[in-house]
Amino acid sequence: MKTVRCSIIGFGAIGQGVAEVLLMKKEYLENMGLDVRVIAVVDSKGATLSPEGVNLADCLARKREKGTVALEKITGLEVIKSIDHELVIETTPTNIETGGAGLQNMLAAFEKGLDVVTSNKGPLTLNYRDLVETAKAAGSKFRFEATVGGSMPVINFAKEVLAGNNIRSVKGILNGTCNYILTRMLEERASYTDILAESMELGIAETDPTYDVEGIDTACKLVILANAIFGLDTTYGDVDVTGITKITPEALEMAYENGHVIKLIGEVSRDRIHVAPRLVPINHPLAVGGTLNVASLDTELAGEITVTGRGAGSVETASAILSDLVSIYREQ
Ligand code: HSE
Repeated sequence: MKTVRCSIIGFGAIGQGVAEVLLMKKEYLENMGLDVRVIAVVDSKGATLSPEGVNLADCLARKREKGTVALEKITGLEVIKSIDHELVIETTPTNIETGGAGLQNMLAAFEKGLDVVTSNKGPLTLNYRDLVETAKAAGSKFRFEATVGGSMPVINFAKEVLAGNNIRSVKGILNGTCNYILTRMLEERASYTDILAESMELGIAETDPTYDVEGIDTACKLVILANAIFGLDTTYGDVDVTGITKITPEALEMAYENGHVIKLIGEVSRDRIHVAPRLVPINHPLAVGGTLNVASLDTELAGEITVTGRGAGSVETASAILSDLVSIYREQ
């Protein structure tokens, strides 16, 4: 049995989803020869620590009851720097302007040669090349499937499942909040501001939902896809961005009468990265509704391949984190 000591840095919806999934999958992981032992769970107020492995059920209960998991006053960065372990699961809130704590946490982890699995888009949007090269130089594994499309596989799908195929483009819906808003605007004939509050109740919008509706979140995900799948060296400034704030219920209705829906479509190829509302025929594979995400990959050998799934959510995003974790240590 291989013991993988890991920390969960960030214990919001996704970090808690990871804890739930690790509890659910304990036996599955053990059958695979992996004893995944969480030695630290950290939130913004402090941490629960145990070299033998914390009790994840207690951590979840404490978080629910007290709003924090903290029993000791120590930060994520201090945990990474001072406690022996192999894997950092980085799930702190994303910051796409500075990279936030996530960027510092990842760099500190690589400095110690630790592996990192993350759902945190900000650091990858800003410093993709630097992070990947630092990880490589340190011999650290670095995986981030959960940053794009939540549970919907797209990065590992393109790089591993479709290995050998030249991917010409990836296009699709990469923001569940916008998809929900556009779907509901058509159903209710309501304005985007009316539906925005409703969409925020789903708990998948960014802390500042402007990032969703102005297309910024989609643009960040396209940057990650451009760099990870196409090997480009892009940042946010390379993306043409138009959001959904000018879409009216009348426009949606008119499109529908003509057999189309309006969707916020992101598209990346070697030549161009852009996000904008586009008309999609009602029966087209990209015309998924509600909070779903979808990605269509134009491949050299296999034509179009489309995947769809839940692009956000606690356990859903944790499913991508689990698969990254398994890929790293199963390989070893
Ligand atoms: N705000 C994002 C969305 C969350 O609505 O898709 C997942 O990245």
